[in-house]
Amino acid sequence: MEKKDIQNRNDIDQLMRQFYDKLLSDDDMAPIFEKVVAKGLEDHFDILVDFWDNILFFTGAYKNNAMAKHMELNAWFPLKEIHFKKWLDFFNESVMELFEGEKATLAMERAQQIAILMQMKIVGNDSLI
Ligand code: HEM
Repeated sequence: MEKKDIQNRNDIDQLMRQFYDKLLSDDDMAPIFEKVVAKGLEDHFDILVDFWDNILFFTGAYKNNAMAKHMELNAWFPLKEIHFKKWLDFFNESVMELFEGEKATLAMERAQQIAILMQMKIVGNDSLI
């Protein structure tokens, strides 16, 4: 069956749940999300949906500084290349399993750009390219 494009917040929510199923099933990634899971994943999904809604549909929904959050995260759990690689692979897999189209492609492009930037700042290299 032909896949549809990402069209709204509901689609982004579905994408995030598929993505987090993969992250939380992976032995390298799951420990990084321990605190988020303890606080409650639903609140986290709300923030992620705002973030991607803003990137894909320019809604202005997301107001935080995602880069700063990950610098804090890195101080608690030092992030390595393998984490960035798996994060991006799981993200792309999730998009491709569910969606197809201009916004789906844009989501994967933006995820890669931001992941590279984040890895540059945190690990100091851009080996994701
Ligand atoms: C090694 C790769 C990554 C890991 C392990 C990771 C993990 C996490 C964790 C644990 C949080 C929760 C932080 C908290 O609430 O204190 C978080 C938040 C978030 N992540 Fe990531 N992340 C990664 C890469 C990325 C990338 C590349 C993006 C964007 C394309 C991204 C977007 C976000 C956003 C928007 C939030 C919410 C921040 C907020 O509370 O405003 N993450 N991430």
